Formats: sequence, structure tokens, C-alpha cells
Amino acid sequence: MPSSVMPTPRQGDGPQSPAAVSAVGLRKSYGDKTVLDGIDLHIPAGSVFALLGPNGAGKTTAVKILSTLITADAGNLHVGGHDLAADPQAVRAAIGVTGQFSAVDGLITGEENMLLMADLHHLSRSEGRRTAADLLERFDLVEAAKKPASTYSGGMKRRLDIAMTLVGNPRIIFLDEPTTGLDPRSRHNMWGIIRDLVSDGVTVFLTTQYLDEADELADRIAVLNDGKIAAEGTADELKRLIPGGHVRLRFTDPAAYRSAALALHEVTRDDDSLTLQIPSDGSQRELRSILDWLDSAGIEADELTVHTPDLDDVFFALTSDTNQSPKEAVR
Ligand SMILES: Nc1ncnc2c1ncn2[C@@H]1O[C@H](COP(=O)(O)OP(=O)(O)OP(=O)(O)O)[C@@H](O)[C@H]1O
Ligand SMILES: [Mg+2]
Repeated sequence: MPSSVMPTPRQGDGPQSPAAVSAVGLRKSYGDKTVLDGIDLHIPAGSVFALLGPNGAGKTTAVKILSTLITADAGNLHVGGHDLAADPQAVRAAIGVTGQFSAVDGLITGEENMLLMADLHHLSRSEGRRTAADLLERFDLVEAAKKPASTYSGGMKRRLDIAMTLVGNPRIIFLDEPTTGLDPRSRHNMWGIIRDLVSDGVTVFLTTQYLDEADELADRIAVLNDGKIAAEGTADELKRLIPGGHVRLRFTDPAAYRSAALALHEVTRDDDSLTLQIPSDGSQRELRSILDWLDSAGIEADELTVHTPDLDDVFFALTSDTNQSPKEAVR
């Protein structure tokens, strides 16, 4: 572990700036187990990137490599414009990392943890105090600041952990499962914190088990499975990748429902709720052709709704190792 971490006022994010994080052919094995089998990542500065994947997929490994905690076996890796292999010190100076397992020292107070970080970043005493006070305030830890961190709840520890990460004012931060174990309110607070960081121009690389979190926060999402990026894109792009989207027609008149069901092929019927489902990718083009088709068949539904698959569907489809369809149950 590096003993000195430099403060980082310099990382430029002008129009010419390169990707905040880029990886080409990133590989890592432990013994004969290949964890990362040549993955490529490209994360524009100022965006939020979420890495998803089942337990053991290699998310933490990727974060540790990109934050210089462990070395890759191969790959052309740049963080904050710096070559990870050639200049790991410069990378360290540009980033902040909050690990899956906390860096908080429980024996000392929250404030002392913060001041320790300020020391590590070579802030002057007065600057360190001011930064610590600002961050403790921002993370709602003022009341707890003088208490040993071991007495904090999980959510408080997590907030302290992120506050500590921000002491050096990093322009790129890695958050490995930032909200695991937090209650819904604390999760939403954490989301707010992450959004604030992004509006300050910080690039966020996060891993998560929560698909709604990726959906909520991330500009782009990659699903890691079996050592490879199984899919990458915006949440909407990923959802369109897998089947399961449909247009749902609901009828109130059973006779209208029955005649529509007879007229339309390839629909799924639900006779109890008088609804019909037509497979669709949810695109405007397909929607228009479905509407035209309904018009020409003289079918008039009382309600028409478009359903796209959610990220859970995507996750199951991309990461399942069985051939079972994740869409057995149609909602
Ligand atoms: N130091 C190590 N020595 C040997 N194997 C390791 C080591 N660190 C990780 N692994 C293995 O690498 C694989 C990826 O682990 P990693 O912690 O990156 O997964 P993850 O995606 O973060 O999982 P989780 O969702 O459970 O946090 C796992 O099979 C793990 O057992
Ligand atoms: Mg992990």
C-alpha cells in the first residue's frame, strides 16, 4: 500500500480531456482462475459508470486494479489520463476509493478518522480541520464526530467512509457497493450524495448489486459475467437487448376482448384481467406498426401500455448459467 497520497488540484476536464477511466484488454487471474478475461472499459469524465455482476464476477478486482491497490496481469489502463503501469502515483493522486470493506478505524472518532486522511493528503492543520468540518457537516456526522467510529451504525460508517474518500478532493472516485446494507432512506441519501458529486464534475465508478441503483444513477452500465463484459450501455439500451418487452391491451368489454384475442395472433392472453400482450421492443417504430395493425383489425382497447423489461430481467438473462428463460412469469 502506498504510504503517501498526494492532493490533486490538477486533473483537467476540459473538452480535450481523455476518458476518466479507460481499459483495453484488462486481464487478471488468480492461480488458474481467470477473473477478468480481457475487458475493455471507457468512462467519460463527469459520468457515472456502474459495474454489475453476480458475486465473484470480479467487480472488486476491477476496482482494486484501477485504483492501484493490486496490479493487472495485462491491459492498457489509464485513469485520469495517467498510465496505470507507468505512473501509479499520479493515478493515486487523482482518485478516491471507498472499498466494499470499510477503511474506517473504529477505535478513533469520526473526526479523528477525517483528520488522519487530511494528514495523508498533506493538508495543513488548519486546512485539514476546515475540510474535516465541512465534510462531517455535509455527511450529517457533526453530532457523532466526537464519538468512536465503532459506535456508528452501518449507514453512518458508510457515510464516514465516503467523507474520508473526499478529503483529497478527488476528480474520480471508485465506490465498491456504496449502499450495500443501508436502509432505504440511507440509500436514497447516498444517491443524493453521489448525484451531488457528479454535478461537481466528479467521475464515479461504482459497483452495485442493486439494479435499481444502477438504473437510477448510472449513465452507462456494464454487466460483468464469466470474466467478460456481457453487455454495456445505458439502462434503456440494456433493457432493449433482451426479449420480454410488450404492449399490453386491456379491455373492459369481454366481447371486445374475445374478438381481439381471436383477431390477433402471437398474443399472450389473460382471460381473467381481459388483457392481451403483444411482444414488442418498445421502439416508436414498432409501436406505430402495432397501432396501425390494431386500427386495421378494428380493435379498440380501453387501455394500452408499453412495458419494457427492467434491469433485473437483463441481469438474469445475461448472467444466468442455465438455459432457463428469466421471463417465464409474465407480469
Ligand atoms: N486475493 C485473491 N486470491 C485468490 N482469489 C481471489 C482473490 N481475490 C479475489 N479472488 C477471486 O476472484 C473472483 C472475483 O472476486 P471479486 O471479489 O472481484 O468479485 P466481486 O464481483 O466483487 O464479488 P462480490 O459481488 O461478492 O463482491 C472470485 O472468484 C474470488 O474468489
Ligand atoms: Mg466485490
